[in-house]
Amino acid sequence: MTEGREGWVLRWLGRGVGATLTQLESDAKMLLGGVRGEAPAPFMQRQAPVWGAAKAPRSVGHEMLQVLRVEPAAEDAVSLVLHDPSGRALRWQAGQFFTLKVRVLGVEHRRAYSVSWAESAAEPPGSVRVTVQRVPGGMVSERLVRDSKAGDWLAVEGPAGRFVLPDAVGEVVLLGGGSGVTPLVAMAQEALGPGRATRVVMLLGARNHARALHEAALQALAAGSGGRMVLHSLVDQRAPGDDAAVREGRLDAATLGALLDEAQVSENARYFMCGPEAMLGSLRATLLARGVSASAIEEERFVRPSATRQRGSAEAQPVTLRVLGREVTVAQKPGQTLLDAGLVAGVEMPFSCTMGGCGACRVKLIAGEVSQEEPNCLRAHERDAGMVLACVARAEGPVTVEVP
Ligand code: FES
Repeated sequence: MTEGREGWVLRWLGRGVGATLTQLESDAKMLLGGVRGEAPAPFMQRQAPVWGAAKAPRSVGHEMLQVLRVEPAAEDAVSLVLHDPSGRALRWQAGQFFTLKVRVLGVEHRRAYSVSWAESAAEPPGSVRVTVQRVPGGMVSERLVRDSKAGDWLAVEGPAGRFVLPDAVGEVVLLGGGSGVTPLVAMAQEALGPGRATRVVMLLGARNHARALHEAALQALAAGSGGRMVLHSLVDQRAPGDDAAVREGRLDAATLGALLDEAQVSENARYFMCGPEAMLGSLRATLLARGVSASAIEEERFVRPSATRQRGSAEAQPVTLRVLGREVTVAQKPGQTLLDAGLVAGVEMPFSCTMGGCGACRVKLIAGEVSQEEPNCLRAHERDAGMVLACVARAEGPVTVEVP
């Protein structure tokens, strides 16, 4: 059920009784930012699929997990250790993410957060750790970093994502910056963990030492790896009092090349990158120029670049959805995705991240044409087979898609 504008304004004002002025100012700024359509990076600012249908959109795999503890991860960042109080062990692969559904000012928002430890490193076993860094103006990150406490419940979907290590790999190079470090921490632990003999070269960038996520844990991991892990953390700017080991610099083409040479990375290494869009583009170009095969490079992106954001048709378009042998035709309004259109009409469609990153919303295009935001997680063979991602695809005319 949805709530009218007056309703949530009243509820928001009502919160003021127990809230601090700072919190209210922060909420107001976030609210205004949201109204203006400002999208905080690095996590997508998109709201959950358009609410307001007679039947509320439903998601697949939603469950409630409890915050077991909140740990500092760096300046303006916390790690939330989540567990199922029933004792059920949660499962995931290093590099995957969970989607958290958080209500702010009466509106549900979805954010994808990578798991920041490997299953073998989870403490207690079976718990999930996600790390959240505050994003200026970010409604959800602000709320999670500021207000999270042990005992809170969170609606969670997942795990999802294909940014995972291959079963057998001799050497991995993990490249990351900002909050993109989080899945790489888990992957480094996984690569060095039981049953593996993988060598790890990890090159990270951060604005400054205070904002470098999981820095101490990574240093300890490298120190205890028996020489299997090489770690270089660079900061844009050293601060007074920084440890002598903190190196100033950016993970640009020249630095990357020099560090890869220094680490004597093998020809067969696989590369995994996660970080700001511009950084990933530059790293990829550098690797390709060094002769690294495109198939050896995997990227995880959490931002839909506004420069490439599609709006789709300016007219409402009929979208025919084939589900379980039946067909239903719904209207995709301007600005909606296929997923929005289906969910608003009450069609049960699978989805998780809603930003093109997990593949949970794959549908097969049977007829018609769609525009689709790039980049996204579709593989070449899936594109060739006509698969599109309903959460980032928009009909350009009448279309028919098959929902698995
Ligand atoms: S819901 Fe994750 S790719 Fe569409």
